[in-house]
Amino acid sequence: MNLLELENISVDFTTKKGTLSAVKDVSLTIGKGDFISIVGPSGCGKSTLLNVIGGFLPPSGGTILQKGKALKGPGRERGIVFQKPALYPWLNVEQNVGFGLKMRGISKGEKQKIVLDNLKRVQLSDFAHMHSYELSGGMQQRVAIARILANDPEILLMDEPFGALDVLTREHLQDELLKIWRETHKTVILITHSVEEAIYLSTSVYVMSELPGRLIKKVETPFSTEYADRDIREVKSLPEFVSLREEVLSYIWS
Ligand SMILES: Nc1ncnc2c1ncn2[C@@H]1O[C@H](COP(=O)(O)OP(=O)(O)O)[C@@H](O)[C@H]1O
Ligand SMILES: [Mg+2]
Repeated sequence: MNLLELENISVDFTTKKGTLSAVKDVSLTIGKGDFISIVGPSGCGKSTLLNVIGGFLPPSGGTILQKGKALKGPGRERGIVFQKPALYPWLNVEQNVGFGLKMRGISKGEKQKIVLDNLKRVQLSDFAHMHSYELSGGMQQRVAIARILANDPEILLMDEPFGALDVLTREHLQDELLKIWRETHKTVILITHSVEEAIYLSTSVYVMSELPGRLIKKVETPFSTEYADRDIREVKSLPEFVSLREEVLSYIWS
C-alpha cells in the first residue's frame, strides 16, 4: 500500500486581488522509504503543497490519503523541518531535542536515551548544553533535525532545510541526511530549489511548473541508492550526474 496518495490536489488562496491558484491538480503517490524531492521556481507553490501534506492547510480540491485513510490535520508521524530552524531560545540543545518527548510524557530515562541517540546522529553530542544563539546556522538546523527525529516520525517533510546555509555546511548536511535516511528507512519529502541537491539525495525528483504549481515531470535518480560508497564531490562531478542535472534544469526553464 502507498504511504501517501495525493489525487488532484489544488489550493486556491483568496487575496485582495481575487483568487490565486497556487497548486493545481497535483497527483502523487509516495511509498514507504521513498526519498522524493520537489523542485521548481520560487513562488510556484512548493511550500503550499508541503503544508497540505503536513496537514496544516486543507486543500481546496482533491483528496489526500495516508495508508488509505483520509488525512486529517497534522500528526506526529509527519515531522516537518523548515528553512529557519525554529528552536526555543530559552532551552539548550538537549532540552530542545527532548521538548516533544516531555510533552508526550515519556519517562526521564527513556527521554535521555532518545535525546542522546539523536544528538549523536547529527554529531552534536558535545554541544548538548549550549543555547541556540551560541550555535552556527548549520548546527541549529542539525538540532531542528534531531528534534524531529526524536519524535520518530514515519515521514520527514523538509522545506528548503539547507537553503540558508553556506555551500560547505550544506553539503555536510546533505550527507548527514542521506546517512539518516539509509539508517532509518524513513520516507522523506524534500522541497528544494537546488536541482543538484534533489538529484544527489532523492530517489525521484518532481519538477513543478510556475504558478499555478503543477507537477510537470518525474525523474528517477540513482545516486542516493547506487552510489552510496562514493564521495559527494565525486558523485556530483560524474558525467551522468551533470547530464541529469542539466536535463532537470531544462524542464524547469522550458
Ligand atoms: N496564505 C497565503 N495567502 C495568500 N497567498 C499565499 C499564501 N501562501 C502562499 N501564497 C502565494 O502562493 C504562491 C505559492 O507560494 P509558496 O507555496 O510559498 O511558493 P514556493 O514555496 O514555491 O516559493 C505565491 O504566489 C504566494 O505568494
Ligand atoms: Mg517555499
